[in-house]
Amino acid sequence: MRLPDYNEERKRNRETEFITVNPTINQEYLGKKYFIRTYGCQMNVHDSEEIAGILENLGFVETDSEETADIVILNTCAVRENAHDKVFGFLGRCKHIKETKNKDLLICLCGCMAQEKSVVDEIMSRHKYIDLVFGTHNIHELPNILMSLQPGLNIEVKSNEDNVYEVGESFKRDSKISAWVNIMYGCDKFCTYCIVPYTRGKERSRKSADILKEVRKLKELGYKEVTLLGQNVNAYGRDREDEISFASLLEEVAKIGIERVRFVTSHPWNFTDEMIDVIAKYDNIMPYIHLPLQSGSDRILRLMGRRYTQKEYLELFNKIKTKVKNAAITTDIIVGFPNETDEDFEETLKVVNECKYDGAFTFIYSPREGTPAAKMEDNISKEVKEERLQRLNKIVNEYSNMNNKKLLDKTVDVLITGVSDKDPNKLCGYTDTFKLVNVTGGKRAIGEIIKVKITDAKSFSLDGIAE
Ligand code: 5AD
Ligand code: SF4
Repeated sequence: MRLPDYNEERKRNRETEFITVNPTINQEYLGKKYFIRTYGCQMNVHDSEEIAGILENLGFVETDSEETADIVILNTCAVRENAHDKVFGFLGRCKHIKETKNKDLLICLCGCMAQEKSVVDEIMSRHKYIDLVFGTHNIHELPNILMSLQPGLNIEVKSNEDNVYEVGESFKRDSKISAWVNIMYGCDKFCTYCIVPYTRGKERSRKSADILKEVRKLKELGYKEVTLLGQNVNAYGRDREDEISFASLLEEVAKIGIERVRFVTSHPWNFTDEMIDVIAKYDNIMPYIHLPLQSGSDRILRLMGRRYTQKEYLELFNKIKTKVKNAAITTDIIVGFPNETDEDFEETLKVVNECKYDGAFTFIYSPREGTPAAKMEDNISKEVKEERLQRLNKIVNEYSNMNNKKLLDKTVDVLITGVSDKDPNKLCGYTDTFKLVNVTGGKRAIGEIIKVKITDAKSFSLDGIAE
């Protein structure tokens, strides 16, 4: 048993080692079926691809439902609203299957919730039917953990990670068109509301040589798009003297010549002029930037530990808009942070009205145990938080609709990623600015970048006809 430990999770002082892991077939697992359900951000989605790859290397095969699985893995999120309830709801279903149909079903929970002490305490007291809880830093240990499972609840959560594990080619990627590529792990920003620096550990960059090798391989395999992933991508390389900066890495990736290069997430604090110049210079770096604001009030930004003022954020925003042609910028905003007054909230609206974002993810503040903000009094009532969220969403949606409408009757490049969820007779894909388009016509175009004339624009998607 290894339990999460917040004191360990705060530590940031040891050297990073680079370790290659290579799971191999185990006769015991040949033909056994796995099912993974993922909640949360792209980092989690990509972690699930890594877990799937490890399981397949061990001999497991994928199945499409928990009903038919020998092992179910829930990869969880500690940030998104309701994630907790959804996870325990799904666990209840798995428990029922185990009690009624498949007593040998292995139920596993991993991801950011596994790093939270309160969650593990809850599992130990109320959810003993779970077989295994493993943390974000234990993924590469999975083969050994599975081999040494004991009857009953096993908890294997490593609370401190300094190393970078390379799993080579053994990802099982969900898509053959668009691939996630981790460039760094963890976060050292410690924004006061955020649990990520504890659940994901210290900032540690992969070697640029390994990243470039992976991207070259993806190009050879025919991938059209890579998205460079990190909690804070523009801090890339800052943890190492021998590494290049994020701007240089982005340039090297662009030079490989893959059609579309994206990156998430950027923190405004390390967003350099060099980065903006590289984004502007290469046509295959997409003009889409997610630039979390969190709050427009300097007082709240200081309490959040965000390291910029409203003025600095707006200067950066305007510099990007001026230098990067047709850039689309989206953001994250939290309402109801402790002590947020009406005036503070008005400052947030002021920034939204000035930036006219292409889109925004909006959140009601909720305390995360172990973070500095959780020690502040959560003194904004639920009603006020909800009212602020609604006001904010209304404005945010108006701007995203307005930005989408600018594309009406224009012909844009769309990377077709699959069949539309809304209508099986249509395809869907993304513009360079990451707007979802449902496309009529253009059959057999999955995986291609095609010209699409936009015929209708809503707040969250566009309709178009293939030319
Ligand atoms: N409460 C509300 N929203 C949060 N986020 C992160 N932590 C919290 C929290 N405690 C939001 C931030 C972040 C996004 C991924 O989730 O806006 O950018
Ligand atoms: Fe969380 Fe701030 Fe790090 Fe983003 S930059 S992951 S909000 S601590």
